[in-house]
Amino acid sequence: MKAKAKAGEAPKRPVRVITVTSGKGGVGKSNLTLALALALAKLGKKVLIWDADLGLANIDVLLGLSTTATIHDLLNGHKSLSEIIADGPAGIRILPAASGILELGELAEGQKQRLLSEFDDWNDELDFLLIDTAAGIGSNVVYFNLAAQERIVVLTNEPTSITDAYALIKVLATRYQQHNFHILPNQVAGPKEAKNVFELLSTVADKHLGPVSLHLIGFVPKDEAVREAVRAQKPFLITDPESQASQKVMDIARRILANPPDEFAGGGLVFFLNRLASFGGTVD
Ligand SMILES: Nc1ncnc2c1ncn2[C@@H]1O[C@H](COP(=O)(O)OP(=O)(O)OP(=O)(O)O)[C@@H](O)[C@H]1O
Ligand SMILES: [Mg+2]
Repeated sequence: MKAKAKAGEAPKRPVRVITVTSGKGGVGKSNLTLALALALAKLGKKVLIWDADLGLANIDVLLGLSTTATIHDLLNGHKSLSEIIADGPAGIRILPAASGILELGELAEGQKQRLLSEFDDWNDELDFLLIDTAAGIGSNVVYFNLAAQERIVVLTNEPTSITDAYALIKVLATRYQQHNFHILPNQVAGPKEAKNVFELLSTVADKHLGPVSLHLIGFVPKDEAVREAVRAQKPFLITDPESQASQKVMDIARRILANPPDEFAGGGLVFFLNRLASFGGTVD
């Protein structure tokens, strides 16, 4: 499993760990996480999705997959990480949502070592870890967002969605000094509406939150192809790759690849898990 860089080869960049998150629920996080994973895979990248939300339309359901093993089976020694990670389309992989709460901060030392070592084995197999978080400002959402290297905040052009995105950014910025956010307007009519949504959010953030840096990473239009794909339990990037929504997601994936984070620091699976455990994050 472990494929360490051979002598003379440049060391591999650490896995980029990115959350897809939102203040308000139902804005499109799960669909966009899946689409982004597939878009990055189309561009030659190896991607794992961590389904960190036991919502209704979770990643399993969107793919019509039925997974049974969870990270709990890893910690009680019944399964290895490779047995829990499910294969999705186009080579993407999925770490399914677990039911029942697991306090990462309260793991026995042996369990923690096992978790870290199994994830460490996967470092060389992956380029990206995309995390589909729950909505809101619950502690787990906050911890996943703090532990990740980058954050994509999804919102729609509705006052509640914009206000709730602001509330999430406010908590992360003022209580935890996390100042950098990618902003992704979804279900908009086009670039003009996306820019309006972004400006509404960034004007309030600039005024009240001081040094936050919000960056418009692109937008995804409201597109019937998404709803049809949800009904068919297949990702829209596969059922309708020519749709507007698919094309805009491809643009975002290209932008993500063109803009890697400056430093190596902050990436990598083990670094992420250690940080998550230090905040007392849970898996549920
Ligand atoms: N770009 C889009 N165009 C049309 N419909 C969309 C689009 N994005 C999302 N939707 C619709 O919104 C619904 C909710 O999307 P999704 O389940 O991805 O949201 P979520 O943010 O993950 O929700 P939750 O907070 O419950 O986890 C989808 O089932 C789909 O019908
Ligand atoms: Mg969801």
